Amino acid sequence: MSRLLVHDLAQVATPARAAAPLRGADLRAVQVIDDAFVLCDGAHIEAVGRMRELPRLAGDVAEIDGRGLAAVPGLVDCHTHACFAGDRVHEFSLRAGGASYEELHAAGGGILATVRATRAAGPEALVGATIAHRGWMRAHGTTTFEAKSGYGLDRETELAQLRAVRTAGGVPTWLGAHAVPPEFQDADAYLDFLLAEVLPDAATIAEAADVFLERGAFDARQARRYLTACRDAGLALRLHGDQFTESGAIPLAVELAARSVDHLEATGVDGIRTLAGSDVTGVLLPTSALFLGRPLPPARELVDAGAAVALATDFNPGSAFSESLPLACSLACTQMRLAPEEALSACTVNAAHVLGRADRIGRIEAGYDADLVLLDAPDWRHLAYHLAGDVVHTVIEAGSVALERRA
Ligand code: NIG
Ligand code: FE
Repeated sequence: MSRLLVHDLAQVATPARAAAPLRGADLRAVQVIDDAFVLCDGAHIEAVGRMRELPRLAGDVAEIDGRGLAAVPGLVDCHTHACFAGDRVHEFSLRAGGASYEELHAAGGGILATVRATRAAGPEALVGATIAHRGWMRAHGTTTFEAKSGYGLDRETELAQLRAVRTAGGVPTWLGAHAVPPEFQDADAYLDFLLAEVLPDAATIAEAADVFLERGAFDARQARRYLTACRDAGLALRLHGDQFTESGAIPLAVELAARSVDHLEATGVDGIRTLAGSDVTGVLLPTSALFLGRPLPPARELVDAGAAVALATDFNPGSAFSESLPLACSLACTQMRLAPEEALSACTVNAAHVLGRADRIGRIEAGYDADLVLLDAPDWRHLAYHLAGDVVHTVIEAGSVALERRA
């Protein structure tokens, strides 16, 4: 096993508490070590500490000079739609001229436009696109990503999307219930098909199931039916909820013990209270709200009420064409009044929890996976402070350099 030593780092910053998900004051508990090293042994972190505590190392050890750099855990993007073909730049222009996202969807554009492109692409092109998007994410410090299906909406393409996500190294989520495709009369008939024809195979590839519970997509009764069947097939549960309307997503997420409910732009006081009193993590997607010109989710209120929150990009061609978690952190701090510490915990340990991996990723500590981001700044808070900045210097995945922006 090869060892890698990152030495003389200006800082190492990591969520301090191992419990997951973090909530309340624990979300702010970031441990900062100045003048630090991180030692990786193969794919795992062997030790982290102050330079003066660095033991004498025998044998072959590769080295990275960390002077002037700050290390944070590899970022975890727990909500993306990174497996898609084509783009929606035309709709972007129409929206700039005043058309709304929901209007474009109702007119057969929106998600269904990407469904047409994704169906036409074929499995190989989907693998290529997802690998390319993974590269974009890595350039912004993401070392673990989740990606959903939901642009196939037929058996072959849904399964091809899930396989493509796995091949590209992502964590696949089955979002069969994303929209009703044109070949079905209504949502119930489409769900009959999904559960009978796609779920048995989807459950062998995906780790979780997700549903778009929203006006114009699936209602709470339909979402309950879909999610219950998915849970019975062994999948963890996620929901897209409260994006445009409060349609019962939070109570349903709590009832079914879902891992997360994601979006929450429309969540009011009752939803905040219910979510805060539950074990369901609220996944905040500020880039999506910004991209659609929508209100931001009530992040401060959720955190202050005691909810567990995660931050993700929602990267997709329609509502959030951005793969940058550092940008999501900037928006969290400048638009949603989260502290940089809360933003970091939300896109590391809490996002890892949403993916069922908080015991392995999301922290810089001995025994965890050796996934690190070295920031081109002496203070880790530049992650959020440098708005849309070129802040990622080096990305280390499983103890190897995966990306190095500057020699
Ligand atoms: O999370 N709102 C539902 N699904 C995605 C958008 C997908 C798309 O527009 O292609 C979202 O925003
Ligand atoms: Fe989404």
